[in-house]
Amino acid sequence: MTTRILTGITTTGTPHLGNYAGAIRPAIVASRAADADSFYFLADYHALIKCDEPARIQRSRLEIAATWLACGLDVDKATFYRQSDIPEIPELCWLLTCVAGKGLLNRAHAYKASVDKNVEQGEDPDAGITMGLFSYPVLMAADILMFNAHKVPVGRDQIQHVEMARDIAQRFNHLFGNGKELFTLPEAVIEEDVATLPGLDGRKMSKSYDNTIPLFASTKQLKGAVARIVTDSKLPGEAKDPGSSHLFTLYQAFAAPTQQADFRAALEDGLAWGEAKQALVNLLEAELGEARERYHALIEKPADLEDILQAGATKARKTATPFLGELREAVGLRSFRSQPISAAGAKKKAGKSARFVSFRDADGSFRFRFLAADGEELLLSRSFSDPKAAGAISQQLIAQGADSLELRADEGQQFTLWLDAECLADSPVYEEPEELEAAMLRLRDAIAGLAAAN
Ligand code: TRP
Repeated sequence: MTTRILTGITTTGTPHLGNYAGAIRPAIVASRAADADSFYFLADYHALIKCDEPARIQRSRLEIAATWLACGLDVDKATFYRQSDIPEIPELCWLLTCVAGKGLLNRAHAYKASVDKNVEQGEDPDAGITMGLFSYPVLMAADILMFNAHKVPVGRDQIQHVEMARDIAQRFNHLFGNGKELFTLPEAVIEEDVATLPGLDGRKMSKSYDNTIPLFASTKQLKGAVARIVTDSKLPGEAKDPGSSHLFTLYQAFAAPTQQADFRAALEDGLAWGEAKQALVNLLEAELGEARERYHALIEKPADLEDILQAGATKARKTATPFLGELREAVGLRSFRSQPISAAGAKKKAGKSARFVSFRDADGSFRFRFLAADGEELLLSRSFSDPKAAGAISQQLIAQGADSLELRADEGQQFTLWLDAECLADSPVYEEPEELEAAMLRLRDAIAGLAAAN
């Protein structure tokens, strides 16, 4: 079984060493595991909540995209995209908004912190608070649930949001799943052994403390930043305590074990802070120099980056488009073409009939699924350019009845449905011939049921 790992990066800043060691590097390593199916994306809709400077949003999206690629993300294995290229996400966000409790969202830390601050300052509690900030966790739930992620690697401040996504998913499943788990319940993953880097002043490296070292700074900028790392005032020759030096902590995050041991010994032996800083610069140059070159090459070709991200969006929408079709169906946003069928089935028992679900594919063509009464997918159609074709075919299949269905199982793992010498739809892949046989029978039964109800 593969594990679907998904995480988003809000595009409001320039990546720094702390982002690299704490999030980018571990995510790229995780994406290489054989059983990993990673979805990494630029959370640029989320960026709009925090930032109203278009130029900064645009610059940050470009820099973050280039960073992940330069650091070695394999976009053939992972799915890498911009949130704003997936229109299914805001659409799902609305479906989720309609089931998310306001009380649940009232409890979100980020929103509460803003309200508390207003109250403290004697302002109106809602001063400056947008609906974007209030609904932030619902959009994040849509990001996660759209792709049925199992694991969501995040920082501690985001755990609550992943838990809210779980709550919202559960509620949606309960209301609309008909006993089926429409959404996988996601879990937050906090990587305990991942380095949290100190910044120049020793506090956590963070844009909000203005104590960062940019990831792809030029050598000169890097030297300048490292020179500003705060140390104690021990003189050259005096023993230094690596345990209390954040310069050492930074070094550790990028050095091999033997290098770490050597550096520790040198500090204890009285290495001058100036030389220690030079050693850190050299280490960072060695670790990041090549990636920096790749980064600048990518930044200089934004059109190529655009192509890569568009391809990522197409790949992501292969999952998102049909799944959203199912969800629209589940909440009752159904094509009127399939309505007579469902209504007929509903006479027997509401919501329990087999059904055709049509949807629009990522490439703009139309397709349908045929689902058994319990929601099992029995067929996925080929593409049609005419939206009416799908509806006409379903009517024709029902009209001709179960016994005349032309099913072919040439390869042994999958069968196809034919009508007038044209292959119209494919079954899922089955491991065993017996399963395949059984599925063909269930298909005939389901069609027979619809024909009888008609
Ligand atoms: N809110 C996250 C952050 O600021 C970014 C994010 C948006 C995200 N959507 C997500 C993270 C979905 C994980 C999953 O860090």
